[in-house]
Amino acid sequence: MSQHLLTVDSLSRESVDHLLRVAARMEPIAQRRQVTRVLEGAVLGNLFFEASTRTRVSFNAAFCRLGGSVCDTTGFTFSSMAKGESLYDTSRVMSGYCDAIVMRHPDQGSVAEFAAATNVPVINGGDGPGEHPSQALLDLYTIDKEFQRLGKSLSGAHILLTGDLKYGRTVHSLIKLLSLYDPLRITLVSPPGLEMPSKLIDLVTSRGHRIEQRDSLASDFSDLDVVYTTRIQKERFTDEMNESFQGLSDDFMVNRDFLDRRCSQSTIVMHPLPRDSRPGANDLNVDLNGDPRLAIFRQTDNGIPMRMAIFATLLNVDDLIEKDLRSVRWFVPAQTGTLDR
Ligand code: NCD
Repeated sequence: MSQHLLTVDSLSRESVDHLLRVAARMEPIAQRRQVTRVLEGAVLGNLFFEASTRTRVSFNAAFCRLGGSVCDTTGFTFSSMAKGESLYDTSRVMSGYCDAIVMRHPDQGSVAEFAAATNVPVINGGDGPGEHPSQALLDLYTIDKEFQRLGKSLSGAHILLTGDLKYGRTVHSLIKLLSLYDPLRITLVSPPGLEMPSKLIDLVTSRGHRIEQRDSLASDFSDLDVVYTTRIQKERFTDEMNESFQGLSDDFMVNRDFLDRRCSQSTIVMHPLPRDSRPGANDLNVDLNGDPRLAIFRQTDNGIPMRMAIFATLLNVDDLIEKDLRSVRWFVPAQTGTLDR
């Protein structure tokens, strides 16, 4: 693994497998049975210049659970970028304060520009429509765990990516990450104008995977293992697109009817979240809440061990975890995290 985590392109199959193994070792800490202090004294700078709940908080919690502390700033308004400070200057300044930095920014390439000016590890928490590598890693970790539970193998699996595949950075990182594994069948379904960029399709196809593009969900998906659905990223639309886009039609709706009629009992449903619950958004339907096939909250829980694994690996303490564990001393409910685990 390189010094930073800016794009999935810097990951080899071996480094991804390593992160999956380290994440599994973090589970007792993430589930609040054990405590470690391997990052005691270390400080994370968490810089979020775009909306976030789970990415910002889970990076923060992951660093704290390793024994470190976190300083953060949220939004342009309350940062010196509002006074015209450049990414270069901000990066130089933050390097003097922090041992690792997570950054989210609305412009593609901005986090890489920021990382070029610092010698501390930088993690891309999402750069506009570019990439979101830690999300893809936690998504892969989720698929791996769910498949182990279901007795399935990733090799030859059928994965559907649907929603906004043009601007959705999570699917850009995920499709590249999946392409490091044995040949898969990947189906892409998106509204017109929001298709997966062709250079990503070409890359994944050149690695021996079968990609099929369909224009709606109204067909047979009975052999589907995973449906990964995404929010329409209206905030990234041009004015022209905003005027012409009418919202998602029923043909793209992932709900109980789609799962019961077109998929199978072992198809799992994922979403990076947030899901857009506003009327007319037609994002992942709440009628699946409580259905064991809905893996979205197991997926969010998995963000903690995977982000701990990323920090531990980048800061070179991944081999120290087992030697530095003790039991928690505070009250922990019998079950933590999602209730439908
Ligand atoms: C996503 C993001 O910000 O790219 N959310 C996340 O980090 N889990 C997806 C989205 O905003 O739709």
